[in-house]
Amino acid sequence: MPPAITASALDLIGGTPLIALDRAHPGPGRILAKAEFMQPGGSVKDRAARAILLAARADGRLAPGAPVVEMTSGNMGAGLAVACAALGHPLVVTLSAGNSPQRARMLEALGAEVVLVPQVDGLPGQVTGADVAAAAEDAGRLARERGGFYVDQFHAPEGVGIHRDTTGPEIWAQTGGQVDAWVASVGTGATFLGVAAALRARNPHVVCAAVEPAGCRPLAGEPVAKPRHVLQGTGYGSVPPHWDAALMDLALSVSDDEAARWRRLLATREGLHVGYSAAANVCAAVALLASGRLPADAVAVTVLCDTGLKY
Ligand SMILES: Cc1ncc(COP(=O)(O)O)c(C=O)c1O
Repeated sequence: MPPAITASALDLIGGTPLIALDRAHPGPGRILAKAEFMQPGGSVKDRAARAILLAARADGRLAPGAPVVEMTSGNMGAGLAVACAALGHPLVVTLSAGNSPQRARMLEALGAEVVLVPQVDGLPGQVTGADVAAAAEDAGRLARERGGFYVDQFHAPEGVGIHRDTTGPEIWAQTGGQVDAWVASVGTGATFLGVAAALRARNPHVVCAAVEPAGCRPLAGEPVAKPRHVLQGTGYGSVPPHWDAALMDLALSVSDDEAARWRRLLATREGLHVGYSAAANVCAAVALLASGRLPADAVAVTVLCDTGLKY
């Protein structure tokens, strides 16, 4: 039986299932994937959105009914739209015009005011760090003009904190502590860092692998040769502000073609229609399990970051 009554959509955030991807990856080892696409905003970002707004309301930075402003690639905006609707705040989001038009439509459907920001050096479907910086600048300006609370997801500490306090412990409990590796792509780094910190605190031997787009690998210490890629929401070409290199054992790279291939495989073999970063995570987990670095029966946990419906 599902819970009788949830007080609001906020209570649908977190507590996601862990899915065994045994059809897409029969071995070696096993891949378990956190189903973050099942959250009300459709992505992993719902957790950070709720955490940042609740913290800001608790310490008075966000007054009841005051506007909320943020730059988003779509997912943070959707999470914020869900939380803003439930908590009673208007939401203004700036979105690089390079993100898929479905994202703007989804955000508007959830009640957000969407401000599209022209791309600086990216292409439609391929948003670069410079594109994101331009959208963030507009968000900061709009927050000042409207007297709104600027979420500033890249600098908000609650993002890493909520994954350390919820996603990581959920994975540990769901696997009964049987987790050998953690694999995740990096936008703000909140998901990767928070879960890595939680798992390492329980078992310092968990191998933590960050996922980067091929040619755009600052975490691997490489110069950025190809800032454009399809892994929307991740791989912005610079090391995020909260980055803690001690939590990363290795950085794996995934090409656009590999991500597209795994996206198709997850849909047709598992019935899971997810986004490119989710597919890249699975692709990287397969590579890690095949690399010989882990035992043949190792369990790699990763995250299906968002639904594929808005690409
Ligand atoms: C599709 C997608 N995947 C992965 C991420 C990365 O999440 P994080 O910001 O926690 O690193 C994001 C972030 O917006 C995203 O939108």
